[in-house]
Amino acid sequence: MVKVTFIDHDGTQTTLEAAEGDSVMETAIANGIDGIVAECGGSMMCATCHCYVDDAWIERTGTRSESEDDMLDSAASEVKPTSRLSCQIRLGADLDGLVVHLPEEQI
Ligand code: FES
Repeated sequence: MVKVTFIDHDGTQTTLEAAEGDSVMETAIANGIDGIVAECGGSMMCATCHCYVDDAWIERTGTRSESEDDMLDSAASEVKPTSRLSCQIRLGADLDGLVVHLPEEQI
């Protein structure tokens, strides 16, 4: 299990235990994190799983792919250099303790 912390746009923090191999999005949906919608279920066909990787973690999560970047063009909230689609971040031991921030809106 790995820990991942979600910080809502209002500052509310929720730390969850996630199974290795699950995505950040799957972890959020399974635990009722309101700030992640994930309309397409993880097939990179929406941008409603948008998150901002905490600055301290951006090197470990890696940067977004070109197709991820294209999909983020339709994100409801501002896209920043740390923006990712949370369905594209797989949790492994290397990401134990990951912190992601949630945008103000997803739709
Ligand atoms: S859940 Fe739709 S792009 Fe991530």
